[in-house]
Amino acid sequence: MDETARTKRLYIKTYGCQMNVYDSERMADVLRPLGYALADEPEGADLVVLNTCHIREKAAEKVYSELGRIRTLRDAKAEAGDGRMTVAVAGCVAQAEGAEIMHRAPVVDLVIGPQSYHQLPELIAKVSRSKGERLAADFAPEEKFDALPEARVVDGPAAFLTVQEGCDKFCTFCVVPYTRGAEYSRPAAAIVAEAERLADQGVREVTLLGQNVNAYDGEGEGGRWTLARLIRRLAEIPGLDRIRYTTSHPRDMAGPGGEDLIAAHAEVEALMPYLHLPVQAGSDKVLRAMNRAHTAESYLRLVEKVRAARPDIALSGDLIVGFPGETDKDFEATLALVREARYAACFSFKYSRRPGTPAAAMPGQVAEEVKAERLARLQALLDEQQHAFNAAVVGRTLPVLFERDGRYEGQIIGRSPYLQAVWAEGPAALKGQIVPVRIESSARNSLAGTLVEAPAGACEAA
Ligand code: SAH
Ligand code: SF4
Ligand code: F3S
Repeated sequence: MDETARTKRLYIKTYGCQMNVYDSERMADVLRPLGYALADEPEGADLVVLNTCHIREKAAEKVYSELGRIRTLRDAKAEAGDGRMTVAVAGCVAQAEGAEIMHRAPVVDLVIGPQSYHQLPELIAKVSRSKGERLAADFAPEEKFDALPEARVVDGPAAFLTVQEGCDKFCTFCVVPYTRGAEYSRPAAAIVAEAERLADQGVREVTLLGQNVNAYDGEGEGGRWTLARLIRRLAEIPGLDRIRYTTSHPRDMAGPGGEDLIAAHAEVEALMPYLHLPVQAGSDKVLRAMNRAHTAESYLRLVEKVRAARPDIALSGDLIVGFPGETDKDFEATLALVREARYAACFSFKYSRRPGTPAAAMPGQVAEEVKAERLARLQALLDEQQHAFNAAVVGRTLPVLFERDGRYEGQIIGRSPYLQAVWAEGPAALKGQIVPVRIESSARNSLAGTLVEAPAGACEAA
């Protein structure tokens, strides 16, 4: 029998950010023509791909413990006479420490960096033919996007779409500039075409992804396009009712492209009222040591400008506690900034010392207990803010894009314009539709609502 004719089981486990989620989907797309079908569990899989994240120590270490489990499964499959399980490590750990993975985890057949996924079929074929281990070569991002298949299989009415990759900012704590390389923007036409194909498949919402998505500067008709210009163009695609983007850097929000993006929040109906704008810290001394190129004050003024354009915008961000040299007073400045910024949702992390980054070698590394205590205080404040934001929509009627079944029979779950998870009792047929929902109650992570019997367009917002 022809090898490619048999259905093979592919298991992909994704760690890290949304760009990895997008990449995992694209890896499945590139392998589908070879007969690989996605499996929910790694047991008995013909190919296992771990798409890894290197951002914090814990994230990277998870990969090694998962590889231990995979090894047992691979041996069980071989013992059962069920053929070979090929094991690939992709993503940012693969890029950052490929040689170390090969050394520490003999179960791994293939290590492949984020720019080389279009080469997977060829590399997998080589690996399964030989018993030798291979390291993938690294390629430029433009080759990757051009070489990936056009066809995408998406699950549900909301999809990710990578428009920009890489980072030139070099925050002193961060590995991304090393794992994802220099900033690169995909040409506008390729993005528009991908979005049109998604809309044809019933996708109603796209989230444009990039490590610095608002630095988008892709080639387009008449010259380089800003993110705002791209959003305005995507908003014209019939059926594509919601556009989001993440994640933004305050530095790019301050230039002319930023002005344009802020204006788009006031003018483009499809652009959802949500902004993820990480600040990292509230002390200017710490921000300087982080190489963030903004101050607490400039960040807050930026937030004010955005709120002037779109008063109801949900603000989100990322914060780090315990950066080297952070004193109690510096940490208090972070709390003060958070109080003023009023986040709808915000991620917060203990500083993790990453090998090869400038901050790892800085004096004044903060003790683990101090970091833990600061994180707990910060998270208590952020929880309070999230509760308050969610409580404020109770009683309102919001348009909800229903995406999937809820936990209980007869429940469906979707998202409000502010990215809040909303559940309601309703028919499964509403999945993929945007319908008005009256919000009845709120918790920290979700809202409960009831469907409103009303003609389309009855929603009061967005
Ligand atoms: N490009 C994005 C962030 C990508 S990483 C941006 O600049 O907004 C996501 C988040 O992980 C960062 O915003 C930061 O808060 C956190 N992070 C990155 N490196 C870290 C480290 N060494 N320790 C702790 N958190 C880190
Ligand atoms: Fe990392 Fe800073 Fe680049 Fe974000 S902007 S990816 S935090 S270096
Ligand atoms: Fe992690 Fe790489 Fe994303 S390090 S956060 S998976 S860019």
